[in-house]
Amino acid sequence: MKIAVVGSGYVGLVAAACFADMGHDIISVDNDANKTAMLQRGEVPIHEQYLPELLARHGGKRIAFCSSLPDAVAASDAIFIAVGTPQGGDGYADLSYVESVTRELARAMNGYKLIVEKSTVPVFTHDWIRKVMLLNGAAADSFDVASNPEFLREGTAVTDFLYPDRIVVGADNARSAAMLREIYGPLTSGSYYQAGPAVPRPDGTHIPPALIETSAKSAELIKHACNAFLAMKISFINAVANLCESVGADIRQVCNGIGADERIGPRFLNPGIGYGGSCFPKDLAAFRAVARECGYDLRLLDEVININEDQRHRFLRKVRRALWTLRGKRLAVLGLSFKGGTDDVRESPAIAVVEMLLKEGSEVRVYDPAGMQRAREILPASGVTYASSPYQAASGADALLILTDWAEFAALDLDRIHAALGYPIVVDGRNLFDPAVMAAHGFYYYSVGRPDVQSSADRRTAGIE
Ligand code: UDX
Ligand code: UDX
Repeated sequence: MKIAVVGSGYVGLVAAACFADMGHDIISVDNDANKTAMLQRGEVPIHEQYLPELLARHGGKRIAFCSSLPDAVAASDAIFIAVGTPQGGDGYADLSYVESVTRELARAMNGYKLIVEKSTVPVFTHDWIRKVMLLNGAAADSFDVASNPEFLREGTAVTDFLYPDRIVVGADNARSAAMLREIYGPLTSGSYYQAGPAVPRPDGTHIPPALIETSAKSAELIKHACNAFLAMKISFINAVANLCESVGADIRQVCNGIGADERIGPRFLNPGIGYGGSCFPKDLAAFRAVARECGYDLRLLDEVININEDQRHRFLRKVRRALWTLRGKRLAVLGLSFKGGTDDVRESPAIAVVEMLLKEGSEVRVYDPAGMQRAREILPASGVTYASSPYQAASGADALLILTDWAEFAALDLDRIHAALGYPIVVDGRNLFDPAVMAAHGFYYYSVGRPDVQSSADRRTAGIE
């Protein structure tokens, strides 16, 4: 199938690369000329595992990059819209990019096209796309609009795309449903996996994936409801972790007990400093707003959002509990991206915590394996320095704070960190370490939903040893 993917961001670029790997011919189009030029030169603008390999394999062959939407539309049978849908006023999604792409698309029509929403959009967006197409001169029988929400997570986006839990196809007629079935045929038939896939299969994935057919409206709701449910799960476990801190219980044990219930499951039960990123915060606000507009008050989500906001303030209080005063303290910060495995710092709770520390008068030396360049664009210039390794960040610091769950942080040489720090204090917002191990290495260790590790002198005074 000849496919145009509009928007070469975290979602669009991954979709383009994966569709190409599935055997389709792709034109990836973006109105950011610099980004397009980078991609044409073979450079990869985002940090995402396996993406460089797929782009190297298919770039210039099965994927062409261009900045002319009309050219891309004219050459394609299906057009996937993957442009940003940022948060607008009153929580509503700002759909102006989707609208302007649709207008341009209507004027470039040269035969039947299937238009597919890939970006996360509120219910009824497919109706609006249809209206805008008609208002801009597209013939009613020359196109269909379908919804095919994307559930990929940044950091594992390529494997999530190629080994999905399910594929949701929201199509309101047989022709568009058939085209989407054909596009995903290599995955749903299993032929992609038999051909020796470029990307290894992650543990626990089921192949071939199921394809769920729904109406376009239902598919739009599935995406919002799914993100809202996952965010609710994270806020729920953060609330329980806070209760664990109050009563001296251990959230790991509680999570093991809860997650073993198959109706709940163990995933997305990691407490921390709250969720961030380009999706959960804006999608919850948009879901809340669209529900209100449709006559239902989804107040449940208010508390999910409140708990999430509170988590970063609780973390700051924990830092104060560990350090007493913050003015003039030199703090090492590990992690700036909103989660491990990505350079994306949009709505990152790590960035929010760094900003709060700066306001309190601390100096921070930060390290992130991929997110420092993007962080520089938003963090203030004074008070922040950028280290070239976790050990350099820790050197001489009054404490080490862990704000992002990068796997390389969990594998740090603890003796080296201990030796580098001015004081052996670690405040871990992502529960990357075992408190018993931290105690054995002589750290004061504060984490989320688990008892603090004090120095051995404190422990003896408290009668623990
Ligand atoms: C975005 C949304 O934030 C997400 O909710 C949705 O599900 C998918 O689209 P993401 O891929 O992370 O996710 O966005 P971003 O990285 O900002 O990429 C969007 C791309 O679209 C950018 O490269 C931008 O230049 C491009 N774009 C934007 C266009 O090509 N045309 C436009 O009119 C607007
Ligand atoms: C999310 C959805 O998971 C994905 O299906 C959708 O397509 C886009 O939005 P993403 O934002 O890339 O994906 O990452 P995700 O892994 O969901 O993490 C979101 C945030 O929640 C991160 O800040 C992460 O650190 C946090 N999180 C996640 C937790 O705090 N605890 C958890 O157990 C899981």
